[in-house]
Amino acid sequence: MKADVVLGLQWGDEGKGKIVDFLTPDYYMVARFQGGPNAGHSLEFNDKKIVLHTVPSGIFRENTLNLIGNGVVIDPVILMDEINAIEAMGVNVKSNLIISKRAHLILPTHKLIDTASELSKGETKIGSTLKGICPAYMDKTGRNGLRIGDLLSDKFQERYNALKNAHINILKHFDFKYTIEESEWLQAIERIKTLRLVDSEYEINNSLDLHKRILCEGAQGSLLDVDFGTYPYVTSSSTICAGACTGLGIAPCRIGEVFGIFKAYCTRVGSGAFPTELHDETGEKMRRTGREFGATTGRPRRTGWLDLPALKYSIMVNGVTQLIMMKADVLDDFDTIRIAVAYKINGKVYETIPYDMNHTDIEIIYKDFEGWKTKISNFKSYKKLPTAFKNYVDFIETATGRSLKAISVGPNREETIIR
Ligand code: GDP
Ligand code: IMO
Ligand code: MG
Repeated sequence: MKADVVLGLQWGDEGKGKIVDFLTPDYYMVARFQGGPNAGHSLEFNDKKIVLHTVPSGIFRENTLNLIGNGVVIDPVILMDEINAIEAMGVNVKSNLIISKRAHLILPTHKLIDTASELSKGETKIGSTLKGICPAYMDKTGRNGLRIGDLLSDKFQERYNALKNAHINILKHFDFKYTIEESEWLQAIERIKTLRLVDSEYEINNSLDLHKRILCEGAQGSLLDVDFGTYPYVTSSSTICAGACTGLGIAPCRIGEVFGIFKAYCTRVGSGAFPTELHDETGEKMRRTGREFGATTGRPRRTGWLDLPALKYSIMVNGVTQLIMMKADVLDDFDTIRIAVAYKINGKVYETIPYDMNHTDIEIIYKDFEGWKTKISNFKSYKKLPTAFKNYVDFIETATGRSLKAISVGPNREETIIR
């Protein structure tokens, strides 16, 4: 059996949480493979709404096992708060959640370094969520990190103190006043020790050997990938499909379907390139209608038209097999809907993206579509949807060479049209 992957093709917040929750009944396990509490994955069902940061989005489906993979960085306080909230909704988290011993810990001092570093950057700040993501991954690749499995060692406290002291030394290089708040963190790790901490690479591969279906859940989006995103305005992990292999211990030949999730338009939080960004009333209308405010930080999201060169790039680096379009309903009331089909740079036309999108003057070549001006969430079947809407979809399918498996027309589980 092969593992399927759900991942974002833009700058995050595409609606991965909703789709993972929607697809979960077909799977034995949902496995989050990278990122940390910088993610905010929203789920809506039965008049309930919840935002998940670390726990996989399959947690509300009774018979599904949920794994926090080795590629994830975990803030114990945020994880325990999240588990409390999920338990309050009646879910037995202890029986449905397993955590990789190889996942790294975010320390209180990682968050301080994140904040100090962002402040020191001034105008060039990344726009980090300040959850300590970058410093935690730096310690991982710098071979200094602490892992979930280390919690079980009697040397843990000693190792924690050593790393904390190393962080205090780093903080001396910043003009930054701080206090280290660690009591809640130390309490949270005691609770984490009571959860099911596993050798997840065996759990996953044994499950696949037994023909059990696994859905891998990505966080952020491909344009925030540390290699292929709009560097340096990216996150610190591999958000692309390959990240599912390293973040879970799945061999590349065991990857099956790759579901690429994208919004019918684009959004971005934080700094960095956004060629189709709108700074006018149209962009404001997208933000208002789409309720485009960060699920983790509450920051207003930047908005703009769908960007085909960037979307095709993401499809390429991920090997996307099927597309899922989200938030199509947000465009219900627009007279004209635009898609960026090419970039013009120094008078030359490109359908590819440049090396440094952040510092390249890009003129956009748009194709305009007539708006459908219909409430598409009223439709249950694709066939009956208005022609103007189908023209938009047909164009995207032809241009990307991929078919749309589903179209999401509202935040609720039920508001999903399968093709
Ligand atoms: P994620 O990080 O990719 O899981 O996405 P977020 O949860 O951060 O952001 C997506 C937002 O859009 C959430 O508020 C969802 O409830 C909402 N949403 C998801 N799908 C749809 C949709 O099809 N239509 C509308 N209007 N909202 C949606
Ligand atoms: P989900 O999984 C949108 C952005 C931040 C910032 C940059 C680096 O909900 O789609 P970091 O905290 O990782 O150092 O921030 O990445 N970012 C996200 N934007 N959705 C996310 O996650 C994001 N996670 C990080 O805004 O620009
Ligand atoms: Mg989000």
